[in-house]
Amino acid sequence: MLFATMNRLLTILAAVLVAFSATALVPQILSDNHAMLRVDATGKYLLLPVQEKEENAYVRVIVDNEQVQTLNVRFAVDKVDYYVPLDIQRFGNKKVLVDISFHGDRRTTGVVKDFVCWREMRVSNTFDDSNRERFRPAYHHTPAYGWMNDPNGMFYKDGVWHLYYQFNPYGSQWENMTWGHSTSTDLIHWTPQPIAIEPDALGTIFSGSCVTNGNDVVAIYTSAGQNQTQSIAISHDNGMTFDKYEGNPVLTSDVPDFRDPNPFWNSDINAWNLILAAGQEMNIYSSKDLKSWKYESSFGKEYGNHGGVWECPDLMKIDGKWVLLCNINPGGPFGGSATQYFVGDFDGHKFTCESMPKVTKWMDYGKDHYATVSFYNAPAGRHVVIAWMSNWQYANQVPTRQFRSANSIPRDLGLFTDGEESYVSVKPSPEMLAARGVKVKKPTETCEIVVDVKNSMELTLSNANGEQVVMTYDAAKQTFAMDRTASGDASFSEAFPVVTVAPTHGAIKQLRIFVDRCSIEAFDADGKMAMTNLVFPTTPYTNIKVKGGKATIYQINY
Ligand code: FRU
Repeated sequence: MLFATMNRLLTILAAVLVAFSATALVPQILSDNHAMLRVDATGKYLLLPVQEKEENAYVRVIVDNEQVQTLNVRFAVDKVDYYVPLDIQRFGNKKVLVDISFHGDRRTTGVVKDFVCWREMRVSNTFDDSNRERFRPAYHHTPAYGWMNDPNGMFYKDGVWHLYYQFNPYGSQWENMTWGHSTSTDLIHWTPQPIAIEPDALGTIFSGSCVTNGNDVVAIYTSAGQNQTQSIAISHDNGMTFDKYEGNPVLTSDVPDFRDPNPFWNSDINAWNLILAAGQEMNIYSSKDLKSWKYESSFGKEYGNHGGVWECPDLMKIDGKWVLLCNINPGGPFGGSATQYFVGDFDGHKFTCESMPKVTKWMDYGKDHYATVSFYNAPAGRHVVIAWMSNWQYANQVPTRQFRSANSIPRDLGLFTDGEESYVSVKPSPEMLAARGVKVKKPTETCEIVVDVKNSMELTLSNANGEQVVMTYDAAKQTFAMDRTASGDASFSEAFPVVTVAPTHGAIKQLRIFVDRCSIEAFDADGKMAMTNLVFPTTPYTNIKVKGGKATIYQINY
């Protein structure tokens, strides 16, 4: 009898507890597309359930009647793909009101209340970002979770390489642009750091750059609001946190695509220069204080490739010549995004290209090499660049979920000539040699393959499921090609299966090929050819066949 009563009491208690925890996150449905949720900030995070195929809902976070944050989230309607963490602890112990407006076909009258997200949303002290992805590279930089595109604001200071990046903290597709941050002391092992710069009333935070100015680090980025304008933020703690300048924006224009500022100190004119993308040209400015900018000139009309918008410029002096990097999307040699560049002269006011206007030079002949920019203040006058290893044609669809996109391995740039023309040489940074491990007999999913080449060569990497990547060096034609048409999963985009071909500018003696789970980066060891391609084999390539060359395979230490 006593036992039965106790049992009943326990059942009632359990029901009350369930009801209580459920009522804590029961939404107020206000219309067919509008709901509010009151959340007690009793934990660190509100975990938001995401379903990628749904449309974005517009979320306003309200504390003390003030709108403190806005974001777009693809809330789960009938199935949760994954969760993303909304930091609510930063609002102290205050109640947080989450105001959600849904869009799209799924919100028809009466349905919003049945969306799975209400049941699945919860407050938690932890967010599990341990890796769940087979295709997560081991020695390339990736975000722990969420979406990443362009590398931003890269600089070197006091022995630390800083890498910021275009980050969506609330989903693994492009949205809510924010600057994520990672640091490294060897360009191979990256430590995730707290978010560096968040959207504000001027807009989301698009691509930009950092410079070191005495002890400070100054970031200049595009505020992507109703229009694209340029803003600055200053860090007094080596780039860990930034204070936005109260006079933002510092540079405006009526050109709609006006973005990706990249400044550098130019001792020739004893002032700062800035290059940024304006439609299909690059604008150049100068300044004494990084705040007020004088327009100097534009470069690009009728030069190089104009198959798309010009983005993410960089301007640097390499071996006495000036090199202007110009990322372009679309218009790449094999469709979509790619990095072109121009070699010439720059006097602090105007860039003059030394080639004929129609000459187009590509830095990397793969399909997955974009938004390449260099580290500011790299040691020993080095020009170290990193590219985003994807392509806007399918970046949002590649077969990963917890995160999307990786960056390329670091590369050091130089110059070489072929005939009358100067070209940029691209070599894996010396740090990659330090990562070389023991020799192994067969390729692994994380290895470097060094191929000594005599004449023409064909190298095939394949797996147990018959998937393969074929790399061909044609000595007569002086071309290198990579065929990924049968490389594995390509179901996510018709633009993915492709053969990419590069000129080799002379004979290749040695190739260095870096494999890391979902990518292959092939380099002429002398730097005259680079090719970066993603691959998604259903099981790792563990077979190798080489005709016309001798391959040595090294494990990569990570
Ligand atoms: C290049 C780019 C930049 C822009 C950013 C937005 O990939 O389109 O021009 O600043 O991405 O995320």
